[in-house]
Amino acid sequence: MPAVELHVHLEGTLEPELIMALAERNRVELPYADLDDLRSRYSFTDLQSFLDLYYANMAVLRTAEDFHDLTTAYLARAREAGVRHAEVFLDVQAHTGRGIRAAEVIDGVTSALATGGDHGITTGLIVTFLRHLPGAEALATLQELLTLDAPLLGVGLCSTELTSHASEFAPAFDLARAHGLHAVAHAGEEGPPQNVWDVLDILRVERVDHGVRAMEDPVLVRRLADERVPLTVCPLSNVRLRVVDTIADHPLRTMLEAGLVVTVNSDDPAYFGGYVDENLRQVADALALGPEELLTLARNGVESAFVDDARRAELD
Ligand code: HPA
Ligand code: ZN
Repeated sequence: MPAVELHVHLEGTLEPELIMALAERNRVELPYADLDDLRSRYSFTDLQSFLDLYYANMAVLRTAEDFHDLTTAYLARAREAGVRHAEVFLDVQAHTGRGIRAAEVIDGVTSALATGGDHGITTGLIVTFLRHLPGAEALATLQELLTLDAPLLGVGLCSTELTSHASEFAPAFDLARAHGLHAVAHAGEEGPPQNVWDVLDILRVERVDHGVRAMEDPVLVRRLADERVPLTVCPLSNVRLRVVDTIADHPLRTMLEAGLVVTVNSDDPAYFGGYVDENLRQVADALALGPEELLTLARNGVESAFVDDARRAELD
């Protein structure tokens, strides 16, 4: 079982039951008759069709307590999956954009992450800039988080890959680096291999989130393998967002054979049918991964984590 999870959006762990409970607690009117009606919407044709529901459901997250409860529920489930170190994404702009104060979001999430030790889990928080919003807003968000002294491990980039160029986000990533933060970015999920080149060269990311479409470009594959740039792959997400047709069509085995540093992760487990344990189980079954490949995946996770040598040795 994987010890490390490096690609999970906290908002993507918002389970339907918690959506309904928070709606009631906060008296938020949802456009769903009941839990079954909500669940019936969890069928996606592409990334955008998922993002529409994902952002809409965030309306129930209003107070620090809500963010705390969301994060605590994730930690409990991650522990069940055998996770011992998690680096979690937080879409701060998806909340400040609807009038929630950044401090409220950060307080709720970080107070819960601080209890990770009770679950035997070390954690890190990565703020993911939203690529459908202007680069200047990403920069302003990071500036505010720095002013708040938010305990960040790094910055990332997510949402649709198709409507902006990575260079828009260079000022935000440069500021993050100047403050000693790590850098990752979603690329090569719905977008072409060029998007992966761009986040490597322009945003100077240390890991690529998804990156499965890098396989279309042999020169890129060689670079990623030579430089040992980790790819945080999310098999069930790729199936549910139609990046691949079925789990049996997933390129994960080919990626490993190409020498890529692949890790298995859950992305938005409440939406895509499983947490990291289920992702690993399904992809291992469908691609007939053997003990050696499973060990490589686990080791890749440990190698790719932003932890110090002492923690890395414990996780290995
Ligand atoms: N891709 C891009 N943005 C996202 C995703 C994803 O898979 N999940 C949550 N935000
Ligand atoms: Zn993601």
